[in-house]
Amino acid sequence: MISEAQLHVYDSPEELHKAVASTLVDVIWRAILDRDICILALSGGETPRPIYRKLGSPPFREQIEWEKVHLLFGDERMVPPNDPRSNFGMVQHELLAAISIPPKNVHRIPGEVDPAVAAREYESNLRMLLSDGRKRIDCVLLGLGEDGHTASLFPGSSVLQEEKALVHPVSSEQTGTWRVTITIPLINAARTVIFLVKGKEKAEIVRRIAHIPKPTIDLPASLVEPDDGKLVWMLDREAASGVVPSRRHP
Ligand code: 6PG
Repeated sequence: MISEAQLHVYDSPEELHKAVASTLVDVIWRAILDRDICILALSGGETPRPIYRKLGSPPFREQIEWEKVHLLFGDERMVPPNDPRSNFGMVQHELLAAISIPPKNVHRIPGEVDPAVAAREYESNLRMLLSDGRKRIDCVLLGLGEDGHTASLFPGSSVLQEEKALVHPVSSEQTGTWRVTITIPLINAARTVIFLVKGKEKAEIVRRIAHIPKPTIDLPASLVEPDDGKLVWMLDREAASGVVPSRRHP
């Protein structure tokens, strides 16, 4: 379930970070060239932190027309922004504090309110942003949990059956806190989806996803199959040690 063409393996975490930052700059450039806007959904968790830091530093920062970029969040833990678990708080610290992006272009999931209300608000925010037919999310950056979850889409969750809603609250069973997540249909409607995976602790789950014959709700990341967009897996060598790297970038 991960084709050779989709798999890009980098020798070190630093090489991976540089490659992902460059790829995001390229995606942003193309989107702005084609449509004068780029809609980018960011992943939470720890893996993307150094990449957001890179995007907020020279030379990457200066290569992006931030006033034409809209930042979304793939998911959020239902805590206030200043809580160390907040994905928005992490992005604020690593990226937003370093760039001049119009506040209206940053579409935060309000972690401090009731999960169902936050999901409803975020859904209507996204539907407004994507309202004209041409607009889709240009790129969704996703992480991968060791259980095969991505965003806050966890194994066996009823949210995985969702076919219409773009956003959903997720109960706290698996995570300790309530969360709000974008759904598989919204992810699969994107022009580009990038999985960013690093570290030997992810090798086994990458191997499992790479070898399953078909998507399964037991491995939510396997349900990510863009309708007509591009799917890219960008891994460091440790995370890819369970699969044959198709192209090992220097
Ligand atoms: C989150 C993310 C989640 C994350 C994976 C991997 O809010 O935590 O959306 O899906 O990407 O759990 O997390 P790490 O990058 O910290 O390993």
